[in-house]
Order: sequence, then structure tokens, then C-alpha cells
Amino acid sequence: MSAAGRVYGIGVGPGDPELMTLKGLRLLRAAAVVAYPAPEGGDSFARSIVAEFLGSHQIEVAIRVPMVPERFPAQEVYDRAAAELGGHLAAGRDVAVLCQGDPFFYGSFMYLFARLAERHTVEVVPGVSSLTACAAAARLPLAARDDALAILPAPIPEERLAARLAEVEAAAIIKLGRHFPKVRRVLARLDLLDRARYVERATLASQRVGALPEAGEDVPYFAMILVHKSGVAWR
Ligand SMILES: C[S@@+](CC[C@H](N)C(=O)[O-])C[C@H]1O[C@@H](n2cnc3c(N)ncnc32)[C@H](O)[C@@H]1O
Repeated sequence: MSAAGRVYGIGVGPGDPELMTLKGLRLLRAAAVVAYPAPEGGDSFARSIVAEFLGSHQIEVAIRVPMVPERFPAQEVYDRAAAELGGHLAAGRDVAVLCQGDPFFYGSFMYLFARLAERHTVEVVPGVSSLTACAAAARLPLAARDDALAILPAPIPEERLAARLAEVEAAAIIKLGRHFPKVRRVLARLDLLDRARYVERATLASQRVGALPEAGEDVPYFAMILVHKSGVAWR
């Protein structure tokens, strides 16, 4: 019987393939199976980042996750994916799971980790997260000295977003998409609009960086707002 395979949760970085780690690339190339999250009817962002490194001999497993706020359909998807990957592991095949950015920074890899780590050998390979990529793109250090930096998901209710933002010196507001008008209102209320920087699709050719889009403009999901209450962290 062959030895059981191993799982590698590989952070593939924010978008530019050159921002993948050497370790992630080595393990990706060596894996017999490559799994990645993908929308129900579309291409996987994580896969697109590493497409040039994939070999035709590798078995690909797309984990199609429904984009709904409820946890349950997605949890079933991860149950099924863990069972499918478990079959490959039992057959001695190593599995690389691609994770856009870093696997443990709001990464869906954690749901597979929770299902696989007790019974299989799982290694988490950190990646360059969108947080640090956006700071670099905006040329805006995130925080300094004793600053508290909050990561605030835009889907949280407006009052909670405002209260959390009021408490810290600096923040990154993620998962913008259709929640952008609410975030803009909160920033205006706290008089932070001119301190906020907007970064869209950091490190890709389509990257956009600048002041906040106008109210009413559509913004994509892969966008983030960085704000430091001093304007810049070094002040
Ligand atoms: C579910 S989180 C996943 C984060 C990812 N695991 C990471 O380490 O960057 C998705 C959010 O990250 C941010 N994001 C990811 N990639 C980005 C990019 N290239 N440019 C701007 N924001 C990005 C967006 O705010 C997006 O809504």
C-alpha cells in the first residue's frame, strides 16, 4: 500500500504570479492533485494566478462554492470536497489546495483544514495577503507604533461598522462590492473620506488605486479601502 498523501494549503498571493512564494511554487508543481475554489458558473481566481505553472499531468478539482450569505449550502460543498480529496490522499496522492492571498486571512481553505487536519497531514503555506499588497499598491503603510489596525468586512451592519471604525487609528475595509455605498456613508459620517484610499485588483494589470470612487459608482468584490486617521501612519 502506498503512503498516504499530504495536503498543502498554498497561498498563491493577491494576483501577480510573481508574488507566489518559492515554497508554494515548489509544492504546487510536485502535487498530483490541484484543488481550488471557484464560483458556481465561472473561473477560479486562485487557479488563474498559477495557470502558467500547472502541468497537464495534474488532476484538477474545482470546488464550486455558491455565493450566498447562508453558511449551509457552502458547508455541504466543503464536506463533499473533503471526501473527494480524502480519496486522493488515501491513494497516496499529494493535494495542493490553492488559496488566493493567504490561506488563513479570510481564506476558504480554513473550511477544508477543519475537515482534513485531524485525519491527514496538512501543511499551511502562507502567502502574500491582499492586505499587504494593497498597502504597497497605495504606498500607504498600514500602521505604526501603538496604532490599532482593524480589518472590517463591509457586509457588517452600518452602525457596527461605524462603531468599530471609531475605535481604531487605522482600518482596512474588505469585501466591498455592493456594500460600497454603505461604507462611503460611514466614512463621510466620521469625516474620513479624504483620508481613505481605494485599491482595486491590487497587483493585477487592471489594478486601480486612488481616492474613493464617487457615490453610485459600482465597485468590485476584489477591492479594499485603507484608512489611517492621521492621513499617513508615520505622522
Ligand atoms: C474572502 S477575502 C480573501 C482574502 C485573501 N485570502 C487574502 O489573503 O488576501 C476577499 C477580500 O480580500 C480583498 N482582496 C483580495 N484580493 C484583492 C486584490 N487583489 N485587490 C484588492 N483587494 C483584494 C477584497 O477586499 C476581497 O473582498
